[in-house]
Amino acid sequence: MKKFSIVIAGGGSTYTPGIVMMMMDNLHRFPIRSLKLYDNDGERQETLAKAIGIVMKEIAPEVEFSYTTDPKEAFTDVDFCMAHIRVGKYAMRELDEKIPMKYHVVGQETCGPGGIAYGMRSIGGMMELIDFMEKYSPDCWMLNYSNPASIVAEACRVLKPNSKVLNICDMPVGTKRRMGYIVGRDPKDMDVKYFGLNHFGWWTSVKDKDGTDLMPQLLDYVSKNGYLTEKAVETQHMDESWQLTHKKAADLLKLEPDFLPNTYLKYYLYPDYVVEHTDPNHTRANEVIEGREKEVFSAARAIIQAGTAKGGEFSIDNHASFIVDLACAIGFNTREQMLCIVENKGAISNFDPTAMVEVPCLVGNEGPEPLCQGNIPTFEKGMMEEQLAVERLVVEAWIEGSYLKLWQALTLSKTVPSASVAKQILDDLIEANKEYWPELK
Ligand code: NAD
Ligand code: LMR
Repeated sequence: MKKFSIVIAGGGSTYTPGIVMMMMDNLHRFPIRSLKLYDNDGERQETLAKAIGIVMKEIAPEVEFSYTTDPKEAFTDVDFCMAHIRVGKYAMRELDEKIPMKYHVVGQETCGPGGIAYGMRSIGGMMELIDFMEKYSPDCWMLNYSNPASIVAEACRVLKPNSKVLNICDMPVGTKRRMGYIVGRDPKDMDVKYFGLNHFGWWTSVKDKDGTDLMPQLLDYVSKNGYLTEKAVETQHMDESWQLTHKKAADLLKLEPDFLPNTYLKYYLYPDYVVEHTDPNHTRANEVIEGREKEVFSAARAIIQAGTAKGGEFSIDNHASFIVDLACAIGFNTREQMLCIVENKGAISNFDPTAMVEVPCLVGNEGPEPLCQGNIPTFEKGMMEEQLAVERLVVEAWIEGSYLKLWQALTLSKTVPSASVAKQILDDLIEANKEYWPELK
């Protein structure tokens, strides 16, 4: 079997150790000859990399491991780049969440003004990574799960139309696993139909391999409990604030009783509820800094100090095994069905063919082929058209350096009540993002 060479971009990410452990656990189906970490923050990456180096020697000494901040070294001779960068890191995420909250507007990582601000930072970072990849390993595929995925995907469509970049999100994967708990099935044995934009979509069908319709049971359960499940052995989305989000899906269902919603729709359909239930001085960024970031970096320091991972291993992020599924689909042409963010091209029949949509695709060695989902109803179509316009305006604002387009984007976001509030938020965001955004005129 072919052995692959991988670079993880965003080597200092809180997700890196879990993903490396998961990849080492999957070497039997996705063999790796070389694994490199790349980050533009050498110090942050080094803490994780030193610990990962110790772990790798103990569990997979045959895999060559290295880390670097040099793009040439990182991107030379690689088959896959797994990208999970966060331009501006948690310090900027915190501002993305807190600035809108000053105006009683949803402050969230990927939705509303926070997502727009993050998008304006991510585009440049992602385009740079793609340039490095194409310069040093032109045949490499980038599997990108850096957020905000919708805006990044639209920027790729416009600025890098021929690049081998596949944008994918973990949220539908996680929710499908919860559906599996609800109906007592292995998620791998469930066939779904789904349409939407990233963090903005609906399942229209869930069946088992025999064709048994699981929707009635799922709709009934979710209408009462949301996606809260008793059995949930999850490594992701377990904090208390996430439990509220899973539960809120019950209220999302009330607006569309026939489809199962993506949990992120709560930010668009119930923004007032979200604002009421958010502490403006302690947002999700703070939870992650005090939780996931602290845990991962403490574990790394403990491994470095002990000189061994025995007794204090990083946990395996099984949640992220979809990344290996995706790499296998491309590397071994498995044509596995997965939800990807792709150009619509008629998959949603009555929606803009050039929109970057999230739909089931067959993934093979030429990338994802979207599967036709047919027509969608007026309510969802209207919401998606508005949100698509927001995402497109952000990308245009970034390319053109246009203040007006970014103000339009914020004004059009369903989470923002008026053009005047949009302007106040925008002016604060510009001030906060001076180091990262292009200058807007
Ligand atoms: P993090 O801040 O811990 O890590 C991000 C890393 O990216 C940092 O080390 C930072 O220095 C680096 N970075 C920033 N800009 C860069 C650039 N231009 N070039 C190279 N490196 C750069 O963030 P995190 O919480 O671990 O999230 C990382 C990303 O993964 C985010 O975009 C997040 O939304 C996304 N994400 C991944 C998953 C998953 O399952 N893997 C799930 C949800 C979200
Ligand atoms: C994150 O980094 O925070 C995302 O995985 C989503 C979340 O809020 O946990």
